[in-house]
Amino acid sequence: MVISRQLMAAYEPYVRSLEMLAGTVLNGRKPPIEEKDFAALLDGHPGSRLRDLIPLATRKASGAFFTGSTLASRAMDQIAHTIGPQSILLDPTCGVGDLLVAAARHLPVDVDLGVTITKWGRQIHGFDIFPEFVRAAKARLVLLASTTNGSSAHEPALNCPDTFPGLAVGDGIGATVLASRASHILLNPPYPRVPAPKGCAWGSGQVSQAAVFLDACLEAATPGARIVAILPDVLRTGSLYARWRAMVEARAGVDSVQVYGAFDAWADVDVFVLHLIVGSGNPTVNVAWWRPAEAAATGRVSEHFDVHVGPVVPHRHKGRGTWHPYVYASRLPAWEEFESDESGKRRFVGRTFVPPFVTVRRTSAPRDQRRAVGTIVNGKRPVAVENHLLVLVPRDSDLERCHQLLTVLRDQRTSDWLNERIRCRHLTVGALRELPWWSPPSEQ
Ligand SMILES: C[S@@+](CC[C@H](N)C(=O)[O-])C[C@H]1O[C@@H](n2cnc3c(N)ncnc32)[C@H](O)[C@@H]1O
Repeated sequence: MVISRQLMAAYEPYVRSLEMLAGTVLNGRKPPIEEKDFAALLDGHPGSRLRDLIPLATRKASGAFFTGSTLASRAMDQIAHTIGPQSILLDPTCGVGDLLVAAARHLPVDVDLGVTITKWGRQIHGFDIFPEFVRAAKARLVLLASTTNGSSAHEPALNCPDTFPGLAVGDGIGATVLASRASHILLNPPYPRVPAPKGCAWGSGQVSQAAVFLDACLEAATPGARIVAILPDVLRTGSLYARWRAMVEARAGVDSVQVYGAFDAWADVDVFVLHLIVGSGNPTVNVAWWRPAEAAATGRVSEHFDVHVGPVVPHRHKGRGTWHPYVYASRLPAWEEFESDESGKRRFVGRTFVPPFVTVRRTSAPRDQRRAVGTIVNGKRPVAVENHLLVLVPRDSDLERCHQLLTVLRDQRTSDWLNERIRCRHLTVGALRELPWWSPPSEQ
């Protein structure tokens, strides 16, 4: 369920308090608030108020997560030198303005607060579907401007809602006219999955809204414009987004791909920061969407193993077909050899695997000490394997090869490599196929 008007009504008094403070500084007075509280208003405070008032699931459905100052300034650092008096900044999904605040810190300031705000107002543009967020963004930009100037009353006095006319309520995906004028597009879009737009060339079915937003920005932006995007890690590493990545590379120069990790302590998602220059795509350059240290590898796991997903989905596959030894994640001891002929059995119609082979638990988080936890499955009869396991079948059917793979999986370099390659909670067939075959594998 997205944020309802009723829930947003609970946030509105907080927005009003921001506007009152902004009104105070616009009238040349010092805000009646301690310095550290004032600083928090420009950092994570609006986000923490939203967390207090609106449940996580609702914020997730609306994609309402605000960028903290550490991540926002890290995203801006790389382009700070390109922001100047001629820049036009656009955040198509501006929330309460965190990315705009981080970028505006690099805009020129005038001695007079009113003049600064008026000039910034011509340069700063943004949209959000929630009016309260747009109002908060305006108020926070006024508060930021007041920290860069000696405060001075502006005649006639500016009224907070009349500042920053380029910030408006609206659908950022349709902000194409503005995007074509922007020198800098700052993007931390909503991440929920939505139906792929009609005629989408890189995906079908349900896709990340973040991917759709970046596509729309690339479509509308002018060559030379810079795009800074904070995006869910699945776009960087997921095999389903390979065509999306190719589309990005074809339409822009990829200046950098920075793995960041958890968005913040409360949002359950890993992100990366993408810096693009529109129109300067170079098909001959290999873009480093991931850059693990692979110097010590002699090849890839795929040269020795075929990798599959376990096909048994217990609630879907009813007990029909031939009886098979059956393995599932909680049944298998980590890093050991498991005799499947002695394990429990189930009926199954579908693909089975002849031992020896290695299973790896699909569920795996960057915070785990070992990302790819393996077990050797031995035995004589074809085994049914549950869906939470990846199955790695040695091409030479050799048990010794399976032991070598366990050593590779236990190697600290494997976890480091996977942390760079795939920060999502599920290991993929593609990531395990590409995993370097470390040589010589070092036991850690
Ligand atoms: C992840 S938040 C990021 C906000 C801000 N850019 C930041 O970095 O803090 C995404 C924002 O997009 C807004 N949003 C969702 N759908 C939108 C749409 N179609 N057009 C404009 N804004 C939208 C949400 O209300 C939310 O404030």
